[in-house]
Amino acid sequence: MATKSKILFIGGTGKLGKFIVEASVKAGHPSYVFVRESTLSGPSKSIILDNFKSLGVNFVTGDLFNHESLVNAIKQVDVVISTVGHTSLADQDKIIAAIKEAGNVKRFFPSEFGNDVDRVHAVEPAKSAFATKAKIRRAVEAEGIPYTYVSSNFFAEYFLPSLSQPEATVPPRDKVVILGDGNPKAIFNKKDDIGTYTIRAVDDPRTFNKILYIRPPGNIYSLNDLVSLWEKKIGKTLERTYVSEEQLLKKIQEAAPPLNVTLSIEHSVYVKGDHTNFEIEPSFGVEASQLYPDVKYTTVDEFLDQFV
Ligand SMILES: NC(=O)c1ccc[n+]([C@@H]2O[C@H](COP(=O)([O-])OP(=O)(O)OC[C@H]3O[C@@H](n4cnc5c(N)ncnc54)[C@H](OP(=O)(O)O)[C@@H]3O)[C@@H](O)[C@H]2O)c1
Repeated sequence: MATKSKILFIGGTGKLGKFIVEASVKAGHPSYVFVRESTLSGPSKSIILDNFKSLGVNFVTGDLFNHESLVNAIKQVDVVISTVGHTSLADQDKIIAAIKEAGNVKRFFPSEFGNDVDRVHAVEPAKSAFATKAKIRRAVEAEGIPYTYVSSNFFAEYFLPSLSQPEATVPPRDKVVILGDGNPKAIFNKKDDIGTYTIRAVDDPRTFNKILYIRPPGNIYSLNDLVSLWEKKIGKTLERTYVSEEQLLKKIQEAAPPLNVTLSIEHSVYVKGDHTNFEIEPSFGVEASQLYPDVKYTTVDEFLDQFV
């Protein structure tokens, strides 16, 4: 049996990263988490770190802003997966420089895990965030670093519990607001499933220098279909209010962060259809549930049951 690649996680203690680290250990990869000294000794991530310790994860201390620490960490592994957050996306140029110097990395997964940033029709502020990720893609390609970009679409945990009702935390039971005409199809994946698919791609030649799209058939829903599914579950018809694109654009301009960020991403997905308005061509992409049909992912239908 081929040996499993050693993986370094940068951002492994983050809200998505911890799920991918768990999936890595579960799949038998020697797993290394790059972690700041202050995080390792402080209380804020102790539950996550204790869990990692019990799983046998190796810790490598360092900081994105300490080049030597990055190079030393990267030299110990074969594959680097970055799940750094929103504010650190541009700083991944430091990871690229360290990978280049280390010279041993077989695959780099930059922090993506959302829309395919080369195929979006977004307005600000989402537009700039997507552009930052696209710039990192270009830098990876310019340096000739082998890559996989994971386009995981929406995290189910963030966009499903309220059926994407602005500023709500529970699903609607009387009235529902639908952005646009409610027809473009969006995709919702749970973070642990994103972890499983990402780790499957690590040693897979089919994902080499490709975008891995996570588009499992049970997780593709338009807002109209999502509301209908929810109505069926609660046995009640909701009053639907449609927000035109014009109204939504005005709302985005007037809203403060983080609401304007969320609304501009939802505009890209629910109004422009950026999760599904293009075909995956073999020249640039592959689809995860087709590559790994044995993965038992949580469907939208199953996910919504917990809120009934
Ligand atoms: N598709 C969606 O629905 C969706 C939703 C949200 C996010 N995302 C994407 O998912 C990705 C991960 O986002 P997230 O929200 O999970 O990130 P996050 O929770 O903010 O995690 C950030 C990680 O980066 C680490 N980090 C920050 N500064 C560092 C430094 N100087 N040196 C070393 N490590 C540092 C943090 O370590 P500490 O623990 O030490 O702070 C933490 O592990 C992003 O690309 C984001 O855009 C997608």
